[in-house]
Amino acid sequence: MLTVGVLTISDGAAKGERQDISGENIRLLVAQLPEATVAESRIVPDEREEIAAVLREWSDEKHFNLILTTGGTGMAPRDVTPEATRAVIEREAQGIAEGMRAYSLKYTPMAMLSRGIAGTRGRTLIINLPGSPKAVRECLEYILPVLPHAINLLVEGPKEH
Ligand code: MTE
Repeated sequence: MLTVGVLTISDGAAKGERQDISGENIRLLVAQLPEATVAESRIVPDEREEIAAVLREWSDEKHFNLILTTGGTGMAPRDVTPEATRAVIEREAQGIAEGMRAYSLKYTPMAMLSRGIAGTRGRTLIINLPGSPKAVRECLEYILPVLPHAINLLVEGPKEH
């Protein structure tokens, strides 16, 4: 079983002013992965400490295999998802973030504006997706097939020395 946490990062959705369609999209797409189950979903505002706290809890205490975040990756001053993620990851997985951006450019040059990163904390893989439902769909369709192998290596590989 592959456990997934879905973290929506949005001031509007956290206040209940906006529907969390991106989170819903992630849940639907993750269901296509064999043996994957969305263990928990949460919505937090664009606050660095709140984001980092959920990432720590879901990796250190709940040991989810994968955390997908959506939102807060852009240029607005309150977009701090990559900074919160960088504060908790131990090893960066540049290729996942670069791959998503490169693939996304075929849809829109605006893909350049996402500063999302990916990396590992313990045996949890954390990936920042952009915020719009469309971006979530486009990015996930590209990375989803790679995730089972990535997670398998992370879970089965020997411990660091
Ligand atoms: N990536 C894809 N695949 N498709 C998109 O429509 N939108 C971009 C970008 N990445 C987009 C995308 C836009 S318009 C922005 S501003 C950035 O993601 C950051 O989005 P965020 O701040 O909601 O995370």
